[in-house]
Amino acid sequence: MSQTVLVAGGAGYIGSHACLALKQAGYTPVVFDNFSNGHKAFVQWGPCVEGDIRSRVDLDAAFDTYNPIGVMHFAGLIEVGESMKDPLSFHENNVSGAINLIAAAKDAGVQAFVFSSTCATYGEPHDVPMDETHVQKPLNPYGRSKLIIEQVLNDLRELSGFPSVALRFFNAAGADPEARIGEWHEPETHIIPLAFDTALGLRNGFQINGADYETRDGTCVRDYIHVCDIAAAHVKALNYLLGGAKGGAFNLGTGDGTTIKELLDGIHKVTGRPFPVTEGPRRSGDSAMLVADNTKAFEVLGWRPEYSLENIVADAWRWHKTLRQSN
Ligand SMILES: NC(=O)c1ccc[n+]([C@@H]2O[C@H](COP(=O)([O-])OP(=O)(O)OC[C@H]3O[C@@H](n4cnc5c(N)ncnc54)[C@H](O)[C@@H]3O)[C@@H](O)[C@H]2O)c1
Repeated sequence: MSQTVLVAGGAGYIGSHACLALKQAGYTPVVFDNFSNGHKAFVQWGPCVEGDIRSRVDLDAAFDTYNPIGVMHFAGLIEVGESMKDPLSFHENNVSGAINLIAAAKDAGVQAFVFSSTCATYGEPHDVPMDETHVQKPLNPYGRSKLIIEQVLNDLRELSGFPSVALRFFNAAGADPEARIGEWHEPETHIIPLAFDTALGLRNGFQINGADYETRDGTCVRDYIHVCDIAAAHVKALNYLLGGAKGGAFNLGTGDGTTIKELLDGIHKVTGRPFPVTEGPRRSGDSAMLVADNTKAFEVLGWRPEYSLENIVADAWRWHKTLRQSN
């Protein structure tokens, strides 16, 4: 077997794409997942361990069996709204679970730890685009749970020499161009799959949350980044750490902002199925503009996004039709 990398949350949306990228780069991805939100059908490129990051017994068994050289950590709860209703579950999974995983990785002598962080650690943007030095003041427990783990990793990097990278994703979107895996959350709250379901007639209409922002057409601006670009950045971050770097934090975004109306135009074009869109009130906690400055990831990791918004929508649509036909 080639060198193994433990992928916590590898049966989820982004983790499964990371497994594919690892396989293509010559590693063996070992999925570690409790299948609370993951899918057995997404485990296609290496062995699978069913376990929970909150269990040290589960983790130690996986590290003993597979002796991974690195860890990619995607496991956790992701819904911002849920984190407001049940903050303790978020801190148990995303903080206690992550600390457990980090401790197990450190004890097992892992040489590279790549952590899924988020632009939600920044909170309200002061500058657009935002670079990594932007103040981090999260607006919800989800963002705080991610920031706490970034800080734990910073301490371990500086004080214990444990090498790690935190990748702050902006809006992950798109799917494997061959439609083997893709976005499949239940319930789904992300805009692109929701719009597709409306196009397919599975939802009654689509509402824009706020059309009175100070943006070019009044709707929120987001930075959509293809999931395969995110996966490629993970492999670059892993190799960077395995090459002896101490690590740090990097934004993963395209640097291009797209308004909700522009995104919906793109979706109408790709699906060929226009659907009615209504304009509702703003949703609390939504920022007008979230756009990444991705210069650091290019300069340090040599990473640059390769997929356009058109690719994102087309790949996501191909996957979404496959998903809805098979379920
Ligand atoms: N989707 C985005 O736009 C986005 C943006 C920024 C950051 N992120 C981060 O990326 C990561 C992956 O997101 P995703 O969209 O692929 O989510 P996902 O829900 O599809 O995947 C998460 C996976 O983790 C597993 N998991 C959850 N708790 C676990 C536990 N305690 N033990 C073991 N496995 C567990 C789930 O079963 C699932 O397979 C998350 O940490 C998320 O916070 C996502």
